Amino acid sequence: MTPPLVLPCLLSLLLLSLSSPSISSSPPAPATVCVVGSGISGSSLVHFLRKYSPEPSPFGTIRMFEKNAVVGGRMATVTIANETFEAGASIIHPMNYHLSNFTSLLKLRRRISEDDDDASLGIWNGEKFVFKTLNLNWDFPLMKFSLVKKIVSLLNAVKLFWRYGFSLLRMQSFVEATLNNFLKYYESFDTRPVFGRVEDMLKWSGLYNLTRRSLKDELVDAGLSSLLIQELVTVITRINYGQSTSMSGLAGAVSLAGSGGGLWSVEGGNWQMAAGLISTSNVELHLNEEILFVSHHGTYYELNSTKRNSYKCHVTVFATPLDELDINFYPPISIPERKLQHTHTTFIRGLLNPPYFGLRTIREVPDLVGTIEDPNIPFSCISVLRKHNDDDITYKMFSRKPLDENLLDQIFSIRKATIRIDWAAYPHYEPPEIFAPFMLDDWHLYYMNTFESAASAMETGAVSAENMARLILSRVSAGVYSHVCGKESSAFSGCNGDLHKDS
Ligand SMILES: Cc1cc2nc3c(=O)[nH]c(=O)nc-3n(C[C@H](O)[C@H](O)[C@H](O)COP(=O)(O)OP(=O)(O)OC[C@H]3O[C@@H](n4cnc5c(N)ncnc54)[C@H](O)[C@@H]3O)c2cc1C
Ligand SMILES: *[C@@H]1O[C@H](CO)[C@@H](O)[C@H](O)[C@H]1NC(C)=O
Ligand SMILES: *[C@@H]1O[C@H](CO)[C@@H](O)[C@H](O)[C@H]1NC(C)=O
Ligand SMILES: *[C@@H]1O[C@H](CO)[C@@H](O)[C@H](O)[C@H]1NC(C)=O
Ligand SMILES: *[C@@H]1O[C@H](CO)[C@@H](O)[C@H](O)[C@H]1NC(C)=O
Repeated sequence: MTPPLVLPCLLSLLLLSLSSPSISSSPPAPATVCVVGSGISGSSLVHFLRKYSPEPSPFGTIRMFEKNAVVGGRMATVTIANETFEAGASIIHPMNYHLSNFTSLLKLRRRISEDDDDASLGIWNGEKFVFKTLNLNWDFPLMKFSLVKKIVSLLNAVKLFWRYGFSLLRMQSFVEATLNNFLKYYESFDTRPVFGRVEDMLKWSGLYNLTRRSLKDELVDAGLSSLLIQELVTVITRINYGQSTSMSGLAGAVSLAGSGGGLWSVEGGNWQMAAGLISTSNVELHLNEEILFVSHHGTYYELNSTKRNSYKCHVTVFATPLDELDINFYPPISIPERKLQHTHTTFIRGLLNPPYFGLRTIREVPDLVGTIEDPNIPFSCISVLRKHNDDDITYKMFSRKPLDENLLDQIFSIRKATIRIDWAAYPHYEPPEIFAPFMLDDWHLYYMNTFESAASAMETGAVSAENMARLILSRVSAGVYSHVCGKESSAFSGCNGDLHKDS
């Protein structure tokens, strides 16, 4: 049955998933792809675009624009008093398989955070520590013996169990069930479709419902005690997303997973994953160049930058949250409003002031001070990054608002160096989440960071990128491109009249 000739555009849409690049008589002119943003999303995207391209590749030049002088985005390091630490995204979960593969592929080294196992935790309510694990790692000679370490960690497990009981196990099953659903995104192409919408991607793995309700509601249904939710769970969501348990269940589960064991980071900085993926993907990288205007001209986009340059791109991908950017689109695009949670990260080299916590000696202050939800507590957490010696320590603090000098002078008795970073860190989660589209128009304007409304993490950026690469590839190969069907001469831009011949 031959479909009418007037329908090639519609037909190519229908053939989306069946597309075969060999149908066209002459090889299509390769498409120029422009990616805005060099974080983990943009860098994984260019990696997968190259990796999944057939020969001959439907993609020619891939350009990447980065407004900063360095790649990596929210993966960045900070140097305080001669030492370098992660300033943004730091921890990687053992089941983050894309990041794991990138690290091996790029021959980067992993740093397993083993110290964290003996780091003590205290939950601060603004007046006192409502819970504290044992802290024996301060030069305590016996701590050199792993048996003693084991006993301490066992005692801490007992302490935790004593306070929170079986709810801890229910919390663990909730996280494991969510993680199991997430693992579906690593299935092979045979069983895993290409997703055109975030909602479909989440429904397919069984995670969508978790974006409709708050973490708190999900955990109450899972049988967790309110004490555990108000204390330990809140401490964790405040550390990982700067938010309370009214955030969505899915982002909440991701944050709880990030508090388990076996966590690692890339030695020397996680940003090296982005740098490596970009340099191995044959990309034309434009640093210090911010995109200001995007206009669509039939078969291509024109991107104008701060350097007053203008670029023609057949495919344009935004690999950055658009929420706080002032980019002009023509024709205009519309995406649902989304607030970003700002996390003020403050690095301090010096010494905490025990009396601030009602304590006498520094040794009584836990290595990680977590907090509950209380508007009077001015910070979300304080953690020890490195102990140089007993009165010279590097700390990292997270807070929702900037910490002024006055306050820092109360919290710290010694302060030799202070560095402040204000991150537009991740979405402010407010279930039910509403998702912007992956495809911002009917042509080739794509948006990766809509997936952050499900959960923001380096791995979710890579998972979104992997799907996006398949989506772009299938749409470009199928010739889904333009409303000016047939008017343009290049095979990339023109409708392929041959498409229906052998159907
Ligand atoms: C303090 C903090 C702690 C975190 N901790 C963790 C963690 O432990 N583990 C984890 O997995 N995740 C963590 N995250 C989340 C993680 O950092 C992000 O989810 C992830 O890095 C986002 O990557 P991305 O590539 O999508 O966006 P980004 O990294 O933000 O990249 C976007 C890039 O686009 C550039 N850009 C923007 N607009 C333009 C323009 N107009 N023209 C050119 N370039 C432009 C930006 O400069 C930026 O480099 C944390 C985030 C923060 C802030
Ligand atoms: C930083 O390192 C340099 C050279 O190694 C050294 O001279 C300096 O004292 C160090 N500064 C601090 C604050 O440790
Ligand atoms: C990681 O690499 C291994 C070995 O090449 C491969 O089998 C596996 O599918 C990769 N994982 C992902 C998530 O791509
Ligand atoms: C999600 O919620 C809908 C409606 O409440 C329900 O029908 C469906 O079974 C749920 N899906 C999962 C995976 O729990
Ligand atoms: C973009 O730059 C081109 C070339 O300089 C120019 O013709 C065009 O008007 C610019 N577009 C916008 C929206 O500024």
